[in-house]
Amino acid sequence: MKKWNKIAVGAIALALTAGAFPFLMQNGNAETAKDFSLVTDSKGHIQVPNVDYRKDWTMLGAWAIAADKDKQGSQGMHVVYTQPESVAAYRKTGKFPDGAILIKELFSTDTAAMTTGTVSRANQTMGWFVMVKESTNKRFPGNKLWGNGWGWAFFDGKNRTKTKTTDYKANCLGCHVPVKNSDWVYVNGYPVLRGK
Ligand code: HEC
Repeated sequence: MKKWNKIAVGAIALALTAGAFPFLMQNGNAETAKDFSLVTDSKGHIQVPNVDYRKDWTMLGAWAIAADKDKQGSQGMHVVYTQPESVAAYRKTGKFPDGAILIKELFSTDTAAMTTGTVSRANQTMGWFVMVKESTNKRFPGNKLWGNGWGWAFFDGKNRTKTKTTDYKANCLGCHVPVKNSDWVYVNGYPVLRGK
């Protein structure tokens, strides 16, 4: 076979493969929303995913925690991220798909007079809150980090693998009751979910 024929045959074979198995051709398959291995193991332990979520995931939004009365600016900032495909699915269905991971990174702040006014900016990472969508509630029966359609865990300081959470009902759920109707998530703070 001549060189050009070989290339043509190769190209056709590749095109057929891509057509028949489109999933083979997708990039970043390891991070599709259904992949739980980034965030949990077979027992349901939760960790902060070891990925560059600040760069590779979508920032859903940020919360600025006001400083005490006699001080200016924000005493902390919470920045929330999820996988891009979770945003795409949410825009289509209005729901987070199974395997969607929400990471809320806690930052200390620095507040200073800048040319725009008194401004607070993110400084050091203080910890992480993680939620993982698991709609069946059957994946980890009896595990107290899982329930109400999610896995729930908090991580203090720099330890991304050992959670401080022992029981999500006691440690998390109560504070998320105001947003029970949006699947326990404070979606009002996340404009990217609404569209352009
Ligand atoms: C003191 C109340 C409180 C507790 C306790 C709490 N949360 Fe939240 N959580 C909030 C509020 C309010 C927000 C949004 C505003 C903010 O971050 O200040 C939020 C946001 C989040 C977010 C970002 C996604 C969303 O829901 O908007 C995650 C993830 C999260 N919490 C996980 C957890 C987990 C896991 C626990 C338990 C380990 C927990 N939270 C405990 C009040 C709480």
